[in-house]
Amino acid sequence: MAKADLMDRVVNLCKRRGLVFPSSEIYGGFRSTWDYGPLGVLLKRNVKDAWWRSMVQLRDDVVGLDAAILMAPRVWEASGHLATFSDPLVDCRNCKERFRADHLPESGACPNCGAKDSFTEARQFHLMFKTHVGPVEDEAAVAYLRPETAQGIFVNFLNAQTTTRKKPPFGIAQIGKAFRNEITPGNFIFRTREFEQMELEYFVPPEDGGQWFEYWCQQRLDWYVDLGIPSDRLQLRPHDPDELSHYSAATADVEFDYPWGWGELEGIANRADFDLKQHAEYSGQDLTYFDQEADRRYIPHVIEPSAGADRATLAFLLAAYAEEEVRGERRTVLRLHPRLAPYQVAVLPLSKKDTLTPLAQEVLALLQPRWMCEYDETQSIGRRYRRQDEIGTPYAVTVDFDSIEDGAVTVRDRDSMEQDRVPIDGLVAYLDERLP
Ligand code: GAP
Repeated sequence: MAKADLMDRVVNLCKRRGLVFPSSEIYGGFRSTWDYGPLGVLLKRNVKDAWWRSMVQLRDDVVGLDAAILMAPRVWEASGHLATFSDPLVDCRNCKERFRADHLPESGACPNCGAKDSFTEARQFHLMFKTHVGPVEDEAAVAYLRPETAQGIFVNFLNAQTTTRKKPPFGIAQIGKAFRNEITPGNFIFRTREFEQMELEYFVPPEDGGQWFEYWCQQRLDWYVDLGIPSDRLQLRPHDPDELSHYSAATADVEFDYPWGWGELEGIANRADFDLKQHAEYSGQDLTYFDQEADRRYIPHVIEPSAGADRATLAFLLAAYAEEEVRGERRTVLRLHPRLAPYQVAVLPLSKKDTLTPLAQEVLALLQPRWMCEYDETQSIGRRYRRQDEIGTPYAVTVDFDSIEDGAVTVRDRDSMEQDRVPIDGLVAYLDERLP
């Protein structure tokens, strides 16, 4: 399939099957934000759960956090965002569209109207959303919607460290919304003004920063591969020195092969002691760590793998989407990792007849406590299989008239399309073996 078609087809599938809808659609949409529908919310939640499982649950050196979106404005002074979190912006004098100066094509032509050399001088455009807290809208009441979740972690470093008694190397992980007034949102859920981040701040002794940076680059690349993205559609790209953010001593991006080319999926940064040092200075609090064994006090250095939940969801969808010909029929299939698929199991009574419903409902009740299940009794069984294929359901369980006699059901595998007859009392064990 041509790369340009892939994006259209995935966007179309997302709309048609209730994964992602344009925001405020009945009012004509609100460009730059998207809503996750009944299936999308399951998929995105599974992406976040898979991240949390790998970063927090399966480790004993990382703890979690859920900090507020609205924070003291001094945080953004200390973090450097107020002074530096801006993008260079140019206007096309011909069509009046705005663009990021660093995203313009080399040809110098306007990406919207094609006019040549029509751009104004670049101006800095601040990316933080401003709001007011309390009843008075004056300068003293200004607050910002956080542009990254990371700062909520830094300002809670002492709280989390002392209450959990963790010693470097240890990390604090957080998943949550972030907001940026992007100049050029686009490419569906790739760049939006409201999005979710999955960030880990990993605190290490200063001399170990380089080694942990390498470690986290590899870990994060492996996470995407383990969840089904082919390794040849991922690459690690170190930043050139002039690309580095104001806080970063070294950064590498995990890049994905999007339909429009290689682009950032996640950034891994060595933030050194920048943030804790800044917050110590601005807050007047001592944010050093005392290493009793070595009898020394230091400001931990920080390695930060920072992923976007929406961007990861998009990459998983793009990598999973396939159209193929099977026995003379075309099918669309989302080969999502079973851990990510919106539903793990579909329960399909062969007919809507009353004789089958009670047993099919019994099978559903048996599986629901373990997996996210869909119950579908409309249309022909072939069509229902296709419907499950295109939303990525790994297993479909068909309850037929023989099931009433033999107490068994047919289980169909999404990828091989092979079918097994499985006794109902062995169904949970059968699926348990195949679903992680
Ligand atoms: N704390 C570091 C930080 O925020 P970043 O590279 O600006 O670093 C990290 O953002 C990740 O957040 C990106 O790799 C991307 O996945 C996601 N992200 C950033 N801006 C985004 C946007 N406007 N829309 C969707 N995802 C975004």
